[in-house]
Amino acid sequence: MAAAMMNLSSSIQSGLFSSLKPSSFFNFKTTHFKNRFCLPQSHFIFSKRSMLCTCSSNNSNFQTGEKAEPYVVTTPLYYVNAPPHMGSAYTTIAADAIARFQRLLGKRVIFVTGTDEHGEKIATAAAAQGSSPSEHCDVISQAYKMLWKDLNIAYDKFIRTTEPKHEAIVKEFYSRVLANDDIYQDDYEGLYCVNCEEYKDEKELLENNCCPTHLKPCVPRREDNYFFALSKYQKSLEETLAKNPDFVQPSYRLNEVQSWIKSGLRDFSISRASVDWGIPVPNDNKQTIYVWFDALLGYLSALLEENEQPSLQSAVSSGWPVSLHLIGKDILRFHAVYWPAMLMSAGLTLPKMVFGHGFLTKDGMKMGKSLGNTIEPNELVHKFGPDAVRYFFLREVEFGKDGDYSEERFINIVNAHLANTIGNLLNRTLGLLKKNCQSTLVVDSTIAAEEQDFKDTVEKLVEQAHIHYKNLSLSSACEAVLEIGNAGNLYMDKHQPWSLFKQGGAASEAAAKDLVIILEAMRIIAIALSPVTPSLCRRIYAQLGYSDDQFNNLNWSETKWGGLKGGQVMAQPKPVFTRIEQIKGTENGGEAAEKVVKKKEKKPQVQGVVEA
Ligand code: MSP
Repeated sequence: MAAAMMNLSSSIQSGLFSSLKPSSFFNFKTTHFKNRFCLPQSHFIFSKRSMLCTCSSNNSNFQTGEKAEPYVVTTPLYYVNAPPHMGSAYTTIAADAIARFQRLLGKRVIFVTGTDEHGEKIATAAAAQGSSPSEHCDVISQAYKMLWKDLNIAYDKFIRTTEPKHEAIVKEFYSRVLANDDIYQDDYEGLYCVNCEEYKDEKELLENNCCPTHLKPCVPRREDNYFFALSKYQKSLEETLAKNPDFVQPSYRLNEVQSWIKSGLRDFSISRASVDWGIPVPNDNKQTIYVWFDALLGYLSALLEENEQPSLQSAVSSGWPVSLHLIGKDILRFHAVYWPAMLMSAGLTLPKMVFGHGFLTKDGMKMGKSLGNTIEPNELVHKFGPDAVRYFFLREVEFGKDGDYSEERFINIVNAHLANTIGNLLNRTLGLLKKNCQSTLVVDSTIAAEEQDFKDTVEKLVEQAHIHYKNLSLSSACEAVLEIGNAGNLYMDKHQPWSLFKQGGAASEAAAKDLVIILEAMRIIAIALSPVTPSLCRRIYAQLGYSDDQFNNLNWSETKWGGLKGGQVMAQPKPVFTRIEQIKGTENGGEAAEKVVKKKEKKPQVQGVVEA
């Protein structure tokens, strides 16, 4: 097979751009090149002044304090070739936990997710189902929304790339890049992976030109396309990463990105002549815009307010730049190389951070729709509930690294941590309080904890959880919170309040204080674990006698010791998390089989899901 090859016209060889000054993030580039395809000036729907205004509007807001800078977190926009699997749910669960943590810090959060609906891969999937692409997209996009509801995902914006407002943004952005002389027409011949929607370098492929991610052969393609002058941004990207090494996270992924850039950036084709299902290229209806050039702009179009006239300027002033793009490591190049270069070309501010997490694997292979080795998230959620699913993947998989799923491990972890360490501790404490103190706290938690090391231990662990959440070390954050539960169980075992109550007098008073101490720790756990297991924490909070409104308006500062007051009445003890039972039996024609049962729980309410 001939090597993937690019025939670029001599005027745009990458060497030509090496002497250019890097473009600033805030200023629109004015450099022009010869032999570029350009639209007539009258086509442009913006002036240079408006572009400059757009770029700085966010800054000036920030400086004058007009509007608090939001915390904007995004998931990738998911392909709708097939319904969601656990791998796609993983990114969204993590993003939701991060968004919830930032809300607890009092930030105005904009949590963006959505679906990537154009391109060959989607058109082919629709045809295989005997549907039109748009019908197919409606069905799968809805399946994503339903899963997010079941998983308690409280997103603020859901963008579909087939929405008219998105198309308007893509066209405006394309025109800006064109005006900056960064788009030209040329021939392209290479090997294409439809599943990645990407031309590949032959050297990255396996035997028979198979894509290393999808294990399917790439197909030779030759097309007359429009290209984006990525090579022009090589130096600017190098400088950006050198100045802002935190831009790519975890830090060990930065080297990978830097070496891609160092090895030389080649312009990439941003249109397809062979694909109808896409946004037409402005002024050339025979081509559609490349699905990645289209989809990345969903991060901007998602920010538009309802019924707002779509424009880049308004999208930017609604929250750009993004604080955190959360993605899987397979799409790092698009987010840490292509996307910043596109934004530089359009004169827009770069996102603050791109975090590439690892893969959920099955037998060591990336779980995915194309390989067909997925875990069905709906099945997991319906069997075990959203908290168990969210907790397991965030606790068990170190955020950034790959992690394998096994049902046995899932059940063991969830039972040990959520049912035993947390659920049982709360239940038995409330049981003792009911029996001995009419479910009423005898003193303030501050008084109860006087001269006790326990309070210091809890405060240290909460502080650790705070730091871990901030650093996106979600597994460590869960671990720190669970340690509070472990410390609580140790405390109970050591003090044995049930025996003290039997002794009466001062011993009984001490026991009543012990219960206050444990319940205060529970209150703190309910806040600190709420980004990960929101409905479980809501139930804990309700058991402590608080209302739903109080739970909804929590702030991280309330993790400080001292919230529970003497006289406060707790609810009747009720298990907050049911153990998952594995029943060994003989089914399936006598073969040994294992059945997994979780007693029916009240379906938790989904909170605050707002759609754009
Ligand atoms: N449509 C593009 C993203 C465009 S963003 C402007 C896309 N979609 S995808 O549906 O294929 O993948 C979406 C996300 O799911 C990616 O971050 C990908 O890494 C993640 N995952 C897909 N399979 C995964 C696992 N098995 N494990 C963890 N995450 C995985 O790419």
